[in-house]
Amino acid sequence: MRIGILTSGGDCPALNAVIRGFAKYAYKNIRGAEIYGIADGYGGLIAGEYKKMHPEDFSGILNVGGTILGTSRQPFKKMTVEENNSTKVEKMKANYKKMGLDALVTLGGAGTHKSAALLCEEGLNVVGLPKTIDNDIFGTDVTFGFYSAVDVATECIDRVHTTAASHGRTMLVEIMGNKVGWLTLYAGIAGGADIILLPEIPFDTDVVCKKVLQRAEAGKAFSIIAIAEGAIEKSEAGLKKKERAQKRSETGDVTATNRLAREINARTGVETRVVIPGHIQRGGSPSALDRAISTQVGAYAGYLCKEGLFGTTVAIHGEKITHNKIADIAGKTKWVPLDHPMLEIGRSVGISFGEK
Ligand code: F6P
Repeated sequence: MRIGILTSGGDCPALNAVIRGFAKYAYKNIRGAEIYGIADGYGGLIAGEYKKMHPEDFSGILNVGGTILGTSRQPFKKMTVEENNSTKVEKMKANYKKMGLDALVTLGGAGTHKSAALLCEEGLNVVGLPKTIDNDIFGTDVTFGFYSAVDVATECIDRVHTTAASHGRTMLVEIMGNKVGWLTLYAGIAGGADIILLPEIPFDTDVVCKKVLQRAEAGKAFSIIAIAEGAIEKSEAGLKKKERAQKRSETGDVTATNRLAREINARTGVETRVVIPGHIQRGGSPSALDRAISTQVGAYAGYLCKEGLFGTTVAIHGEKITHNKIADIAGKTKWVPLDHPMLEIGRSVGISFGEK
């Protein structure tokens, strides 16, 4: 069986651990397994850039961050746009055939799954794997890369904590996560943030300022705010994405973070700083938990190939590794549900989510 494998979209820790788990399973359990590494995600499949891999290529990479295959972002909306008498999907289909592939394994996030669904419609045998630090893929409890990013983001909050305490400042730590708040919620709770602001709960600036003042009055001179990059102020909640971006650009802002920091500073008089760890959250070695998960899901993708269960993507439900149909989950977002137990627990220990 000849299998192509690619990693697409933003990278994350544990991509290599998954690739390794898949390859080890395939060489051991699939008769005549040949693995072709496709360079830079769908970009390599479009351009026909790939190479035959060997078992030794997959050794020593379990704890290595990034992806040995390289990655790129290939926007879904451009997949079916005609350029020089052909579309990207057509090019991928042609290269899949040219490579003589029996299956294609795609490690990626939401966009990758949408394109994978297109490839399935075109008759390709695709097996997906749910990657992203954002944890926003529908139909799986967790995505690989998420727990490693939680650890990094938590350490950032920890480090900010001590300096905030020394100076008696309010510090806002802007956490990645794209449109959803999973990473901010988990790192915020783990890092002991006083205020956690998620896209799913538009925040009220008055409430946030009041909380900072209450803490100051109670003798706690510093406050830590974990704010998601996708967080939205209440007054912006009704706006479309473009309108929100336009409104923010008037003050030179991209996210809600800097504006909130200015407001806190002005309204409370508490010195306020912003920290944006950015891509640090995606870099470096995967955590032990992520390595274990990745070995499981990688091997399971090998099993799906072996059994010919194509058009599927791996999913984790509790302790169980299972799969969903790609068509059923593509294009759907897994938001933090408003009744998530972590929110209730957070409120019960005095964390503010910026709501009235
Ligand atoms: O999807 C992962 C992610 O890190 C998001 O959290 C973030 O919004 C985005 O990718 C950043 O993308 P880029 O690496 O293209 O700047």
